[in-house]
Amino acid sequence: MSSFSALIKNAREESWSAALKDYRRKVLRKKKNGKVEQVILAQEVDTQSLNKLPSRVTITPEVLPLESEISAPEEVQTHKALRIVSKGTYGLHDACPIPEFKDDDEVMIRNFATGLNPIDWKSVDFNFCLPSFPWVTGREMAGVVHKVGPSVTRFKVGDRVWTSTYYRDVRAGCFQDLVVVPQHTVLPIPGDLDFESAACLGVAALTAAMTLWKWLQVPRVARTPSLVDSVPENEKDCLLIWGGSTVTGQFAIQIAVQSGLEVIAVTSSKTEALAQSLGAHTVVVRDGKTNDEIVEQIKAIGDDRITRALDLVGNATAPFSLKCLSPTKPCLFAPLAMMKTQEVPANIEILNVEMKQFVLDKSSTAYAEDLNYLLEHKRLKLPELDVLKGGLSAVVGGLERLKKGDMGGKKLVVSWQE
Ligand SMILES: NC(=O)c1ccc[n+]([C@@H]2O[C@H](COP(=O)([O-])OP(=O)(O)OC[C@H]3O[C@@H](n4cnc5c(N)ncnc54)[C@H](OP(=O)(O)O)[C@@H]3O)[C@@H](O)[C@H]2O)c1
Repeated sequence: MSSFSALIKNAREESWSAALKDYRRKVLRKKKNGKVEQVILAQEVDTQSLNKLPSRVTITPEVLPLESEISAPEEVQTHKALRIVSKGTYGLHDACPIPEFKDDDEVMIRNFATGLNPIDWKSVDFNFCLPSFPWVTGREMAGVVHKVGPSVTRFKVGDRVWTSTYYRDVRAGCFQDLVVVPQHTVLPIPGDLDFESAACLGVAALTAAMTLWKWLQVPRVARTPSLVDSVPENEKDCLLIWGGSTVTGQFAIQIAVQSGLEVIAVTSSKTEALAQSLGAHTVVVRDGKTNDEIVEQIKAIGDDRITRALDLVGNATAPFSLKCLSPTKPCLFAPLAMMKTQEVPANIEILNVEMKQFVLDKSSTAYAEDLNYLLEHKRLKLPELDVLKGGLSAVVGGLERLKKGDMGGKKLVVSWQE
């Protein structure tokens, strides 16, 4: 009997109830006098697939909130929210009205972890994407389903999920305890990921996946074997990722390599090894070089094969990313961190990547499902996390850190768990 089975058996003998979630995970509830005392998520982890060690199975129990903490919504009148109360000003409020359902297919999720992103501080500092005051920002989170609308079929109260949200709906702002989103934007947390890891899927991972698969027309390999060895090295199309160590770039490198592309990434010397470890074929180190010198180096490597480019830095580098593209072949360019209007050669299409399409176009769920599939099959490595405890009270300080840059490839996540 594996230690996982033994844990489940012991729990049963101690009169815990076990709800089967899937082969690898069970939620155990310990009751006393009819009241749930403790809830544990028992997870089976096959360390062979994780570390390529001799096969063995470990148990990683995680204490979940008591049922009372994810209680029926009638019992919760107010919740905590970090609001933008006026231009550039945050206010942490304990007793905000909880967001209400407007549609039958909506899901209310209790926040356990939320990822911090550059857009979160930029929108407050430069006052955009804030339809009115007070407003709640935050675009990605992971948590537990708290309540479902009558048409929701894919989720039930207690499910562990992640989501990616659209700023125009204040109910979906992730810097609050309870978040309301449409069912098609909610995904089960894949495999054995914890809440903090799952909280970085909604922006960086999903943006990388959708930018590549939807806009840059990279083959979707999620359900098929990797195409990595299917094309001879010197015949591969090249993808340039300027900003290869950004969290978004880290996911993009891995997805592109599995799709059979050759990846050229631009990073600092500090994160060169990180980009290489994720599969980038060539890393161009930017330290001490002008952007023109970097372009020269990239063109010498990719020659006429660079037909796609992704810029994750901004106005300062996007025009240089553009210069690296093939002068003769049809090319696609995704400037994800902005680019000033400029003349563009006729063979290059500038893509308008709009992540709101994940929410507005229900068919986009398929991209998130493919992402989940890659994660479940351990085909993507997550960024190193820098977890800030303290829930909403840690958000503003975290955003200040993010603003300073220099995260060295780490992802900042705020956790509600102690
Ligand atoms: N449009 C969208 O929907 C969307 C979605 C996601 C992200 N974005 C945008 O994409 C950008 C990246 O976001 P993120 O969260 O992935 O970033 P991030 O992880 O916060 O990126 C920080 C990293 O950028 C790298 N960097 C800074 N200057 C660079 C340069 N000149 N050349 C190459 N790399 C440089 C630094 O690494 P090194 O110093 O080690 O190189 C730094 O660690 C942001 O501007 C964000 O707003 C847009």
